[in-house]
Amino acid sequence: MVMPYSLPPLFFIMMLLVEVIAGGIDPNWYDAHATFYGDAAGGETMQGACGYGDLFKQGYGLATTALSTALFNNGLTCGACFQIMCVNDPQWCIKGATPITVTATNYCPPNYSKTVDIWCNPPQKHFDLSYKMFTSIAGEKAGIIPVKYRRVPCVKTGGVRFELKGNPYFLIVLVYNVGNAGDVSHMSIRGSKTGLLTMTHNSGQTWHINQNLVGQSLSFLVTTSDGKALEFSFVAPSNWQFGQTYESKQNF
Ligand SMILES: *[C@@H]1O[C@H](CO)[C@@H](O)[C@H](O)[C@H]1NC(C)=O
Repeated sequence: MVMPYSLPPLFFIMMLLVEVIAGGIDPNWYDAHATFYGDAAGGETMQGACGYGDLFKQGYGLATTALSTALFNNGLTCGACFQIMCVNDPQWCIKGATPITVTATNYCPPNYSKTVDIWCNPPQKHFDLSYKMFTSIAGEKAGIIPVKYRRVPCVKTGGVRFELKGNPYFLIVLVYNVGNAGDVSHMSIRGSKTGLLTMTHNSGQTWHINQNLVGQSLSFLVTTSDGKALEFSFVAPSNWQFGQTYESKQNF
C-alpha cells in the first residue's frame, strides 16, 4: 500500500487547529483504570493532597478524583478537569452512561510493599474516583474498571480564589476555583510595595514565599498549564488576614 505523502502534514495541521480551538488542552483520549474511595456522601474525599479543604464550599463537590503518580505531576495537575468513561467491561460498565467530568483534588499514593492491587504505582495512570462518580459509570461491585479519559476545560462559577495561610515570614497561598485548564503551573505575587515576586511550589496547589507582605495589598500573576497567564490585581486589600480567602473578579 502506498501512503500519500500529503497526509502526515495535513494531519499535523489539523491536530494543531484542534489544539488551538481547545485552548491548548490536549483533546485526545487515553487509556487508564479507575477505582473509588470514600462513601456515597463524599466521606474521605474532602481535604486531600491538593490542599483544598471543604470541597463543597470550594465548588468541587463530589465531582472529584485522586490521581496516581503518573498523572499527579507532583501536585501540579491538581485542579485539572478530566472527562472519564468506562470502556471494555461489558459486565460492569453502565451502558449509555454519560461520561463523568471530575476535578483532580487528591493523590493516590503508590504502595511498593503490595504485590496485588498496585493500581496507583508508577507508571500506571489511575483515577481513584469519589463513590458517586464511579457508580455513575460502572457498577459498585466492579471494584476496578478500564477507562478512557481526556482533559477538558474546567467550568467554574465566579473568580479564581486565593486562600492566605502561614505566618508573616512564610506566606502560603492556596489557589483554587481555576477555570479552563484548571491546573496552575506558575504563580507570582506582588505586594503594593514590591515588584513581582516568584512563588515556590509548596504542594498540591499551594505556593509559598519567604517575604513579609503583611499590610500590603496583594496581586497575583497566575499561569496555567496551557501557558495562559492572568494578573489578578489587588485581590487582597492591605488589611488581609491569614486564614482568609479572597476571590478575584476574573477567571481563565
Ligand atoms: C501497603 O500495602 C500493604 C500490603 O497490602 C498494607 O499492609 C499497607 O497497609 C499498605 N500501606 C499503605 C500506606 O496503604
